[in-house]
Amino acid sequence: MGDRMPELRLENVSVYLKNRKIVKSFNLEINDGELHVLMGPNGSGKTTLIKAIAGHRDYRLEGKVFLDNEDITGLKVHEKALKGLAIALQEPPSLEGLRVGEVLIKIAKKFRKLNDLEASKMVSDVLNIVGLDQKTLSKYYMTEFSGGEKRKLELAKILLMNPKVAILDEPDSGVDIDSIPRIATVVSKLTSSGSSVLLVTHQFGLFDYLRPTKVHIMISGEKVLESSHDIIERLKKEGYRVVKNGSE
Ligand SMILES: Nc1ncnc2c1ncn2[C@@H]1O[C@H](COP(=O)(O)OP(=O)(O)OP(=O)(O)O)[C@@H](O)[C@H]1O
Ligand SMILES: [Mg+2]
Repeated sequence: MGDRMPELRLENVSVYLKNRKIVKSFNLEINDGELHVLMGPNGSGKTTLIKAIAGHRDYRLEGKVFLDNEDITGLKVHEKALKGLAIALQEPPSLEGLRVGEVLIKIAKKFRKLNDLEASKMVSDVLNIVGLDQKTLSKYYMTEFSGGEKRKLELAKILLMNPKVAILDEPDSGVDIDSIPRIATVVSKLTSSGSSVLLVTHQFGLFDYLRPTKVHIMISGEKVLESSHDIIERLKKEGYRVVKNGSE
């Protein structure tokens, strides 16, 4: 126990889809401004864990989720968001008939208590940071977006929310090579402004720019390893055999 308080704490979180147990008794603590990475093979349950934390209705969650020491397990999706939990999904839902400009300005006003002018200025800045053109403002939210553009729009949303905790599910998948340093910048901006970040990735590209406090490895729904960033070099060489080969 240090003197820092965990911003996000998962206590024995198990997740069920129908009657199938997908995530098994997962524990995690992330302190203020820390970056933690969650890795694991396809189908191991990373996205399931994230959706269940968000409060997705298809999943049943056992255990507890604490945000800033408050039990938020039973809250609804939007209530969790207002408490400071922001989640960028791998496959974000489209919002029928809403344009990017109106959605993002509404978010900026709600989460940052800005007036119209300040909000539109901030939205424009955030689009620049994530690498989306200002023309994006008049597009329909998510529906008119490519895969990589969707990732960027999710990150723009997260930056505007100024969250206590940001959970990012593969923000680097399918984005072009110039966007990797941009995404790293977004993550750094979040942690340096005190947000705690949980990042899911399959790539090592972001680690050229970011040094996570911890790396967690999930296999078949279980956390099999929690390590310092030193494990990344070994993961590159050995893949998930590191788990069998021993970590320390
Ligand atoms: N909507 C669904 N219906 C049925 N099974 C599902 C559904 N979503 C996920 N699963 C199953 O749950 C398990 C975990 O999937 P999940 O998407 O959480 O994996 P993941 O670790 O995020 O994988 P990836 O690295 O490919 O994103 C898999 O076996 C998957 O087949
Ligand atoms: Mg996934």
